[in-house]
Amino acid sequence: MESLNNGWEFTPEWNEAFARGEGAAESVRLPHTSGEIPLHYAAPEHYARVCGYRRDLFVAEGLRGNRLFLQFDGAGHIATVFCNGRELYTHRCGYTAFRVEITGAVDYGCANRICIRVDATENPSIPPFGHVIDYLTYGGLYREAWLDVRPETYIEDVFVTTPLLTRAVVSITASGGAGRYRVTLIDADGRVCCVRERNHNILYVNYKDARPWSLSDPNLYTCRVELLDTEGETVDETSVRFGFRTAQFYADGFYLNDERVFLRGLNRHQSYPYVGYAVPAALQREDARILKEELCCTAVRTSHYPQSRHFIDACDELGLLVFTEIPGWQHIGDGAWKDQAVENTREMVSQYRNHPSVILWGVRINESPDDDEFYARTNAAAHALDPGRATSGVRCITQSSLLEDVYAFNDFTYDGSTIPVKDKITVTPDTDKALFVSEMNGHMFPTKSFDNWERRQEHALRHARVQSAAAADGEHAGCFGWCMADYPTHKDFGSGDRVCYHGVLDAFRNPKTAAAVYASQGEERSVLEIGSPMDIGDYCAGRRGEIWAFTNADEVRLYKAGEFIASFTPPAGGLAHEPIHIDDTIGRQLRTKEGFPPEKADLVKQCLLAVERRGLDHLTAEDKLRLGWCVTRWGMTLEEGNELFGKYLGDWGGEVIEWRFDAIKNGEVVQSVVRGGDPVRLSLELTPSHTHLREGDTYDMAAVRIRILDENGNIAPYAQLPVLLDLDGDAALVGPAAVTAEGGMCGTYVRTLGRAGRARLTVTAPGAGSASVDFTIEQQNRAPYRRNRL
Ligand code: GAL
Repeated sequence: MESLNNGWEFTPEWNEAFARGEGAAESVRLPHTSGEIPLHYAAPEHYARVCGYRRDLFVAEGLRGNRLFLQFDGAGHIATVFCNGRELYTHRCGYTAFRVEITGAVDYGCANRICIRVDATENPSIPPFGHVIDYLTYGGLYREAWLDVRPETYIEDVFVTTPLLTRAVVSITASGGAGRYRVTLIDADGRVCCVRERNHNILYVNYKDARPWSLSDPNLYTCRVELLDTEGETVDETSVRFGFRTAQFYADGFYLNDERVFLRGLNRHQSYPYVGYAVPAALQREDARILKEELCCTAVRTSHYPQSRHFIDACDELGLLVFTEIPGWQHIGDGAWKDQAVENTREMVSQYRNHPSVILWGVRINESPDDDEFYARTNAAAHALDPGRATSGVRCITQSSLLEDVYAFNDFTYDGSTIPVKDKITVTPDTDKALFVSEMNGHMFPTKSFDNWERRQEHALRHARVQSAAAADGEHAGCFGWCMADYPTHKDFGSGDRVCYHGVLDAFRNPKTAAAVYASQGEERSVLEIGSPMDIGDYCAGRRGEIWAFTNADEVRLYKAGEFIASFTPPAGGLAHEPIHIDDTIGRQLRTKEGFPPEKADLVKQCLLAVERRGLDHLTAEDKLRLGWCVTRWGMTLEEGNELFGKYLGDWGGEVIEWRFDAIKNGEVVQSVVRGGDPVRLSLELTPSHTHLREGDTYDMAAVRIRILDENGNIAPYAQLPVLLDLDGDAALVGPAAVTAEGGMCGTYVRTLGRAGRARLTVTAPGAGSASVDFTIEQQNRAPYRRNRL
């Protein structure tokens, strides 16, 4: 296919003159957003408009006799395509791809005018619109566009399933009906594994050496299909990528290749600062990498719509399971609206069904009421196109009518003190079918990167507790936290600035404390995050309260001013690595420094720690008994107690105290976190998604995460500094050139300009110095396009 991403003109307001090709308009490349948004206080006014795109398409004489299709991977939200003024087709879903045949409308040997009218408003006639929605929906031609030239008789679709780990079933649809086909399976190294030929549109390929697709070893194969003429010559050819894997839900959970895998995941919106949905492949892929490699998820839910094929491709390549769903949010519209939702189901399934990472179709409108007639249709549509893959649909209600194979429940039960998740029997009418938590936490505890440490730690603990409970009870197939990253939303939601601070990452994908809960479930790299700054001034009445470590180590050892205090190990629980409560900051010091006998040292320590945690006025009866015992048994006085508190916990007025937490794995220190001390010199840390940018099918874009660190290498969350961005060379900044570090973190985006070269981004924050990152930009021949059915 030929890229049609360049050379477009854009008008923010569609008009007839524009459609006739008159007047000048803004030159744009795809992906493009119908309107940029600010980081805070974004609103539909910024992008919701009926806009237009146009470009010339030269159709060579030599293309006569072929069939020509335009393909749009995503147009938000209603797109009408015109060719030379002729209206050809209207597509009514902002989240699925579509193709338009232009064969009969083009002139050969000359330029043809292609125009697209794109309605980016919240048109209530289609999903997800008609009522309030907790996310912004953006618009425009926000994914790529292509020209596909096929012969008169061509392969429309190839669908590969693997009912056995050594068998691929290849189903082919061709425009001419029956035909002779050759199927070639090619492994990831480009080696031909087997070739089959048959006069039938279903081919069975048994391949005993197939390497299964799994989370740790996501092997992919290419299935090349050739349509042959009577002479055996290839008339048309197409390729799809697939994996040998089985994916099944049973009452007790999800099984990949007959092995139970807990779906530990996060919900992902496909939105980004400034440009909304419109980012090219590299950043779509980067989100999958972050989920898999940084957050160690086994699964992701593409809430609340099908997402970029680049994202799903990366999930295939990385081994990240996907639950994808039709667009919608709580509201069900009229008959035509429902018909469109059924059509959306068909488009979703037919466009994504070759992806081995996709294990479940969401065929209900997120959190909508029961509507058996409607959902019988969406279920039937999904099963007809893909009989082997399970369906589900996300509910916020218990005991709802279960037409699907799996019950997905947004379990927002946990408020910090309640049970973490509801029992299966309470939630679903059919306990023989699998159940999983499709959302949790979110609005129950919005947490900003610039909230205080206590809140950010509590946010992390809430994610951990629900994940742990869902994993431990043996009744849940998985649990998806709400959500991956902060996102802009409508006035009805969010924190007044219309941002939902529900992410374990901020909008730039910088980690909050809660990210460590997910990160610490992985084994590949050591993780240690401490939920407290250890600075007494950040706490009410100078009392530190609870301290938690999020780590995948076997043990955490605490040192105060270089002296060993105590060692802590994780409790057993549903998570492979439960958070560790650091509940002793005194250790044996009362014995070693005060010379107290063991019994006295322990009791006094408990009293001091109780005062630290709860304060003198809120001691429990047990605490008071202990205090009484100190007085009667050892004749201790309040003054003595105060002095000990000041010396071992008060930590002020004396020397600067450094706290060190060592993560121990197999007896070795694998990581240390140092808190306290006097780390006032700040510095900038820049983490680019990639520095080698490619001008290929379209422009490339890198994300640069920016954090301000203290001398200990910790995030400096209160360094709310201005951050100045300067880009020099053959690339451009996306978004403003001056931003603010929020919670010590922010970011920016760098995009290519259509030429090879170099660029340097210099970031300066007064008080934190400056840092830079260099980019090279390469002009690249485009990669071959893998075609799934559209
Ligand atoms: C759910 C909804 C999500 C999001 C979340 C916030 O009810 O499905 O889209 O709004 O709440 O916690």
